[in-house]
Amino acid sequence: MTDKAKFLPTEVYQYLLSISSRETAVQAKLRTEISKLPGAQMAIPPEQAQLLQFLIKLIHAKNILEIGMFAGYSALAMALVLPKAGKLITCELDTQHEKLAREHWRLAEVEDRIDLRIGPALQTLEQLFAAGYQEKFDFIFIDADKTNYNYYYEKSLQLVKREGLIAIDNVLWMGRLVQHDDGSEATRALRELNKKIHTDKRVEMVTLTIGGGLTLVRKL
Ligand SMILES: C[S@@+](CC[C@H](N)C(=O)[O-])C[C@H]1O[C@@H](n2cnc3c(N)ncnc32)[C@H](O)[C@@H]1O
Repeated sequence: MTDKAKFLPTEVYQYLLSISSRETAVQAKLRTEISKLPGAQMAIPPEQAQLLQFLIKLIHAKNILEIGMFAGYSALAMALVLPKAGKLITCELDTQHEKLAREHWRLAEVEDRIDLRIGPALQTLEQLFAAGYQEKFDFIFIDADKTNYNYYYEKSLQLVKREGLIAIDNVLWMGRLVQHDDGSEATRALRELNKKIHTDKRVEMVTLTIGGGLTLVRKL
């Protein structure tokens, strides 16, 4: 959680949660379990989960795609605000945290709304494409390996409906994008994608400082 409060002093961050968090008991339980895992900081913070929920409700989303599940915290949040007939397809490379995620989806009674696709997301997206999912999603959340972000963005533009939303996480990459000596592949990929989206005429966009930086894109 420390990384997630990077843009705010800890005390202010705690205050923010105290006046705004509406996290359910099951969400809090899963977050506690995740905090014991290596890579725990990969899960989005509660205020970001709440923002995704707010957006999903605002646009009356019924079909959601998530790229990068980890231990299922963001998937749980999004599934909680889907209508009963709604569906969330979430992509994850491996099964390491599937059991933990499913246990909490079950507790929250949303397991039947979540379709977990294990394997490289590049492949899963191609499969969705081949299965006729073009322009089928109302909302897409990109939160997986940064080096493939450009591919995920381009595919998401094809898979999301007109006027649908794409949310892209970690676009400020914990400040690493402005460290000029950071020429890692992930950093370069994020810099290039940020630059591209800024002037992309296919979309409307806004970047927020929540979490690790979140760009919201609306397909025109
Ligand atoms: C930042 S975490 C996702 C966090 C999750 N959205 C949340 O907020 O709870 C990124 C996840 O993407 C997964 N991942 C990395 N490369 C992937 C790939 N090529 N295909 C599918 N998933 C991948 C990682 O295993 C990791 O669990």
